[in-house]
Amino acid sequence: MKLLVTAGPTREPLDPVRFLSNRSSGKMGYAVAGVARQRGHEVILISGPVSIEPPDVKVIQIMTAEEMLNAVEKNIEWCDALVMAAAVADWRPAMISKSKIKKKNGSDFAPTVHLERTPDILKRVSARKGNRVFVGFAAETENLEEEAKRKLLEKGLDLIVANDVSATDAGFEVDDNRVVLLPRDGEPEPLPLMSKMQVAERIVAWIEARR
Ligand code: PMT
Repeated sequence: MKLLVTAGPTREPLDPVRFLSNRSSGKMGYAVAGVARQRGHEVILISGPVSIEPPDVKVIQIMTAEEMLNAVEKNIEWCDALVMAAAVADWRPAMISKSKIKKKNGSDFAPTVHLERTPDILKRVSARKGNRVFVGFAAETENLEEEAKRKLLEKGLDLIVANDVSATDAGFEVDDNRVVLLPRDGEPEPLPLMSKMQVAERIVAWIEARR
């Protein structure tokens, strides 16, 4: 099978030295890419800026949500399954200053930053889904299953992997995760705390069974 996997955060610049981003380390998405490779699949990994070593797969580095969208669009026809583990920024500064925004000497000037929405990558490629398997993640801090179910349907997915990102032992940055697998056609399956590699095993096995 050919898997297109996204991982890590996106960075949305405000000026040449500042950006809006989030806490994603890339560990969850890199685990999916690594496990899929170990199980004999071809993998393209589209990654935001992270500081961990990639598995032995083709890696496309991106910075912004727009760049991630372009990379996903370029490779969507190639893949049999798309796994969106990336934490794509939902908003970006509406204006990017070409030069560093300066403090004004002796004043308490603080700029107001206007934000605009970034493209929703899963929604943008949903028309090209065909019989590809689409897997998304839901990063929630409340009403985990309810919110995940809403995203599963809104984004036209086959499976959504819901994680509570307010937990300290799971979610962002750490090596473990505690997820609920919510298939479109089936019952939610809550999994106990396990390593991100083990979560990745469950996701890739689910995709294999689905295909
Ligand atoms: O990287 P780690 O430190 O290991 O952390 C793992 C993780 C918490 C980042 C990961 O498990 C996770 O939850 N990833 C999805 C984060 C996220 O953006 O969730 P969301 O609920 O905001 O988005 C729902 C889905 O839509 C996601 O599959 C997301 O990739 C996708 N999305 C979001 C915004 C956007 N503009 N376009 C998208 O396609």
